Amino acid sequence: MLKAPDILVPVDFSECSINAVRAALGVASPDGDLTLLHVIDESFVRDSVAAGLGSFDEITASMRERAEADFSAMLEGIETGDVEVERMVVIGIPFVEILKIARDLDLPMIVMGIRGRSTMKRIAVIPGDGIGPEVIREAVGVIERLRETHGVELELTHFDWGAEKFLTEGVALPEGALEMLSRDFDAILAGAFGDPRVLSNKHAEDILLGMRRGLDLYINLRPVRLLDARLTPLRDRSPSDVDFVVFRENTEGAYCGAGGFLKKGTQDEIATQEELNTRRGVERIIVAAFEYAQKHGRRRVTMADKSNVQRYGGDLWQRVFKEVAARFEGIEANHQYVDAMAMFMVLKPAQYDVIVTSNLFGDILTDLGAALQGGLGMAASGNIHPGQVSLFEPVHGSAPPLAGKSVANPIGSILTAAMMLEYLGQDAASQAVEKAVSEAVIAGETTRDTGGTLLTEEAGEAVRRRI
Ligand code: NAD
Ligand code: IPM
Ligand code: MN
Repeated sequence: MLKAPDILVPVDFSECSINAVRAALGVASPDGDLTLLHVIDESFVRDSVAAGLGSFDEITASMRERAEADFSAMLEGIETGDVEVERMVVIGIPFVEILKIARDLDLPMIVMGIRGRSTMKRIAVIPGDGIGPEVIREAVGVIERLRETHGVELELTHFDWGAEKFLTEGVALPEGALEMLSRDFDAILAGAFGDPRVLSNKHAEDILLGMRRGLDLYINLRPVRLLDARLTPLRDRSPSDVDFVVFRENTEGAYCGAGGFLKKGTQDEIATQEELNTRRGVERIIVAAFEYAQKHGRRRVTMADKSNVQRYGGDLWQRVFKEVAARFEGIEANHQYVDAMAMFMVLKPAQYDVIVTSNLFGDILTDLGAALQGGLGMAASGNIHPGQVSLFEPVHGSAPPLAGKSVANPIGSILTAAMMLEYLGQDAASQAVEKAVSEAVIAGETTRDTGGTLLTEEAGEAVRRRI
């Protein structure tokens, strides 16, 4: 006899559906058996693969992981008594099959989570310090405009994390923040962190590096694209000469935080600052760079290191690079020492398609890259773990001298929002933003740093009205 489940609760893991599940679990408790089914929509996975966010297996594996975390969160604090909870993660099977499973298991109830079907994406917005709030306001304005023009549905939740909160409450990254971000959000849009009142920069490290490491956002993707020849400080260079992307390793290297002092404060003081390179960490960023090249029709991946001096880490990068390169036929793989690359980025930028490098070298090279495209105000970046909540922030910092004057260039943040939209599968909206930015730049409707006369909000509006 087919015994249909008593209750079906389709959820997409937004806050309200998590509450619905919690309520259903509450009802289920006295009755005994309970099975949680997590249904991953296969088409969503295929879209993510097509968007270059990882392989089918990687994406489903990370979705399973996330579903496990979601389910644990749902069960938290609920009196389950002797309710037996079976967990199942089912990929891409038709609804009727789910009902059959329910029948076979003789379930009194199914609580079903569907991730990927809902078009509503949840974004955590963290404007941060200095010019962060000013530029993020413009990026958010662009997202709001897309709601009207492209039906983009994003649910934005603002967080006040930054120097002010740190100074008044002693809190940088609140407890449980990382779990909350990965459970309740699809992406994070952040401004900048850094404030002259916090000399140690502790809050910025806790928040920004905390998210990069804690959410395992191992790809820092930083495009370097010149939109108008007028903007580059290089002589006789046009947009076709400056068009590459940097894959910066984002979780280890010199940013691992290892090191210490000996005899601190004495004349004999010793400070060590260690760099960490794991086989897994090096391999996944290099693979990401090659996969990107393949997907985007880029013909060359260039790895930058300092293996002539950094014998151990450099050696590992060299070996892994050669190994991975051999797997990608048709994509040229070459290597430059990072000092030479800094020079060639200025002298012959057209040779670069995709650059892959370590955390610290990537940090430095992308400020140089930002300069090539018109300054820090123009540069966008994504901190990405394919298939998981990822963080999007402009390359620039909080620029204290500009804060509160409405002169900061919002384009870096607006292009960052476009990267986020692409990550969320909203390609048309993303391209519309990039096109509008290009047009505004070519029309000279920008802030002072890029030769225009507009204030921050006017420059944002110049983009918005072109969408
Ligand atoms: P910065 O990127 O904040 O600014 C350097 C200079 O670049 C500014 O003085 C300004 O001339 C120009 N600039 C940057 N952004 C601009 C914009 N949107 N429009 C116009 N001009 C812009 O770097 P900094 O001065 O070295 O650092 C300031 C603070 O920001 C420090 O506390 C630093 O640690 C922090 N920081 C944070 C991030 C981040 O949160 N991602 C990144 C870099 C620096
Ligand atoms: C960046 C910044 C950060 C970094 C700082 C603020 C920790 O410079 O995002 O490029 O070094 O990564
Ligand atoms: Mn930097």
